[in-house]
Amino acid sequence: MPLKGRFALVTGASRGIGRACALELARRGASVAINFLKRDKRALAVAEEVKALGGKAVVLQADVGNADEVKRLFSDVRNHFGGLDIFVSNAVNAAIKPVAELTLADWERTFSINATAFFLGAQESAKLIDPERGGSVIAISSVGSQRVIPNYASLGVAKAAIESLTRYLASEWAELNIRVNAVSGGPVETDALKAAFDYHQVASWADITPMGRLGAPEDLARVVAWLCTDEARWITGQVILADGGITLR
Ligand SMILES: NC(=O)c1ccc[n+]([C@@H]2O[C@H](COP(=O)([O-])OP(=O)(O)OC[C@H]3O[C@@H](n4cnc5c(N)ncnc54)[C@H](OP(=O)(O)O)[C@@H]3O)[C@@H](O)[C@H]2O)c1
Repeated sequence: MPLKGRFALVTGASRGIGRACALELARRGASVAINFLKRDKRALAVAEEVKALGGKAVVLQADVGNADEVKRLFSDVRNHFGGLDIFVSNAVNAAIKPVAELTLADWERTFSINATAFFLGAQESAKLIDPERGGSVIAISSVGSQRVIPNYASLGVAKAAIESLTRYLASEWAELNIRVNAVSGGPVETDALKAAFDYHQVASWADITPMGRLGAPEDLARVVAWLCTDEARWITGQVILADGGITLR
């Protein structure tokens, strides 16, 4: 149990990759704060799964696209856990449109929920991580930060900002014993993927992936959980790509 006694917060953990991260962290011994926006029943079900794995779990509603709510979220984490060792910035919502159709509100909201949420959440987590214990901050990114995906500009640019911020934070916070990394995925079978892209597009991605399928949430979550362990203690400031080889083509 490499993460026994550790406390983690995962944003957007009611579904998809965030849920899988919460469960993989719990499997390695961590207690987990499960953030969600609207789907309280799904979040409560994840909390039950974490408890069944032996960890403590708390469910915390907050809109990570709102700065005051991010502050409240971390204050709730402090009240429940007394501190924090692991922060996974995972929640997503984005305007999936061609650039010409993006409104300023679309652009700003996509940035708030993705890049700014990581910036603010990382700042708050650094206040709760004890340098004696050390800690890990991880952002979930996507290959759309580097490659052009149809209608993905606002989120792709936000992901590029997240990856850049990962490097700055890693450099500034090494002295605080906080490692900062990003885990980037190709297409992963989740609600977000199905909502944003049509069936034919998604099927074509599975076809061109050398490993012959779409990603599963656990494919990214296992990398996230491993990065939080001592086995990854010399890794910081990196974007770890887990994509079944799709970007090779
Ligand atoms: N799916 C992919 O193909 C893929 C590929 C690479 C990277 N990623 C990245 O992986 C991460 C998770 O994506 P996913 O596909 O697992 O998404 P998903 O299944 O759609 O789940 C989104 C999660 O984010 C939460 N959320 C949405 N807006 C929020 C807000 N304003 N504040 C707090 N929570 C909010 C949702 O909560 P509710 O349930 O309450 O609505 C839900 O838990 C994202 O960073 C995404 O960019 C995804």
